[in-house]
Amino acid sequence: MKILFLNGPNLNLLGQREPEVYGRTTLKDIEAKVRERAARLGVEIDFRQTNLEGELVAWIQQSKGNFDVIVLNAAAYTHTSIALRDAISAVGIPTIEIHLSNIHAREEFRHKSLIAPVCCGQIVGFGADSYVLAVEASVSVNVNRK
Ligand code: DQA
Repeated sequence: MKILFLNGPNLNLLGQREPEVYGRTTLKDIEAKVRERAARLGVEIDFRQTNLEGELVAWIQQSKGNFDVIVLNAAAYTHTSIALRDAISAVGIPTIEIHLSNIHAREEFRHKSLIAPVCCGQIVGFGADSYVLAVEASVSVNVNRK
């Protein structure tokens, strides 16, 4: 089984960026935690970050036939991107939306996710553990699919 982890804009700044909201863990640390859990479950991981919306769209498109599940922290594009929503819908690969913070407990503009309706579920508010929980959720989504 192969999971594609995609991270959107500003997540490369984790660790220094608003630590009171996002914690002190860097994206590299998060990737290490994800790889550790994935190895224990015998799952393969690809872990990427970009600040560009079009690059996320391209990666989602290219994932067809190459990955079983996508885990997506679309960051701010969550709240704005019809292009990402359409890409997820177009490839038809089960996609799990994740966030470090609880977007529903923050500013009103973060309450709305344009990608949520085309994702199989949302994991929000557990900090770096949202990513680790997403490995577990991906395995369960993949098993239930077969
Ligand atoms: C975020 C939440 C988004 O609202 C925000 O724009 C981010 C990070 C999170 O992981 O909590 O950049 O996706």
